Amino acid sequence: MPTATPLAYDHSLMLASQVGTAGLPDSELPALKRRLAEVRTALAEQKRSGRVGFFGIPERQAEIRAAVSLAKSIRREFRTLLVLGIGGSDLGARALLKALQKRGKGMEVLFAGGNTDPEELAELLGTLDLKRTAVNVISKSGDTVEPMSAFLILRDRLIAKVGRQKHARHIICTTDEKSGALRTIADREGYRTLPVPRDIGGRYSALTAVGLFPAACAGIDPKRLVAGADAVMRDFFAGTGTPAPLLFAGLMHDAYVRRGQHLTVLMPYAEALREFAFWFRQLWAESLGKTHDRHDNAIHVGLTPIAALGATDQHSQIQLYNEGPFDKTVTFIAVRKFRADLRVPKAFKDLPGVASLGGHQMSYLIHAERAATARGLAEHGRPSGTIALSAITPESIGGLMMFFMLATAAAAELFDINAYDQPGVEAGKQAMNAVLGHKAS
Ligand code: PA5
Repeated sequence: MPTATPLAYDHSLMLASQVGTAGLPDSELPALKRRLAEVRTALAEQKRSGRVGFFGIPERQAEIRAAVSLAKSIRREFRTLLVLGIGGSDLGARALLKALQKRGKGMEVLFAGGNTDPEELAELLGTLDLKRTAVNVISKSGDTVEPMSAFLILRDRLIAKVGRQKHARHIICTTDEKSGALRTIADREGYRTLPVPRDIGGRYSALTAVGLFPAACAGIDPKRLVAGADAVMRDFFAGTGTPAPLLFAGLMHDAYVRRGQHLTVLMPYAEALREFAFWFRQLWAESLGKTHDRHDNAIHVGLTPIAALGATDQHSQIQLYNEGPFDKTVTFIAVRKFRADLRVPKAFKDLPGVASLGGHQMSYLIHAERAATARGLAEHGRPSGTIALSAITPESIGGLMMFFMLATAAAAELFDINAYDQPGVEAGKQAMNAVLGHKAS
């Protein structure tokens, strides 16, 4: 039986009837939904054409099995997995592990290679037991400066520690199946490999071997992640009503073009989703920030994502969101049922500010804080929406990733831009290559 859709989206506080002129006039919602129906038809066509790989994620069962099977061996052979990647090659795995790895389950999974800052890596090298460490270097292109420089250092240290021959067992390369420097290195050195699918861009690849292998090493079931993503995608294309990711995209696009709300704040109220907001930040920024539309007109569009965390950032950001410029929308993520809860003991009856906390579950407090923040924003005339997860499970996190991938594809359709290229990132890489080439000569 297919998995049920693991999330719901409440857009009521995005509407003018609730927040005034910064909201979408309620009377315009039907027209927006008609436009969104056309967008869905266009995306269904993209899906059918097979040109956009992430729509096919649920069908890539052989790749899921390969990642699971390799993870089983690695878990038997080693204690720690060190993941080296950057951007689309590590943010997904970081988000998955932060949300779902349970203490004491799976291997220890660490991350590096996301920066060329030497201090961080040097400190890590000082603590790693290399004999018991496997290294998963992830790079689709195979020559990205940050992860590849870290990889060369790790490889060197491994050879010094376990010997030229044995070191190959410690390295798993996740890269393009045919091309790129990392593919060449893996073939030459006999490293084990997993594929980054050709037709799936880095930031859409969290639910391929790129994210699924580290997740499986950490004891997270890839099949459940993909089942959640599949449920959200089935619901999206099912044909009834306006699916949540489509409505989210439509509201964000309308906010941008009609009311100058260029900033998209994503504010999960769950510590476990802290890294998820950073995964979203890359997806939204790299996919929607473009100079040209699909007809080559210069348009310079982009919704700027902001990663926030509730309730923590109520004491950092909410002052700005309530009173600053009317340039943003806020989307909360609510988790209905937490995996653990604690009751605050009753104490200090004579101090009302502290005494009022006593007797409440912490889950009650965090829900109340989110609801109060949303209400406060509305009272200040600021639009917000809430995505609710019934709980944090592999299905809901896979579903949430698919929610945002579909929303991004839909927003790109509305802006009439290509969501799947990143010429601005490539330009940066080329500039760096030129610097290195110059130095080498
Ligand atoms: O989404 C993208 O395409 C980028 O963010 C890449 O993931 C990032 O630049 C890393 O590239 P690579 O996997 O080629 O090392």
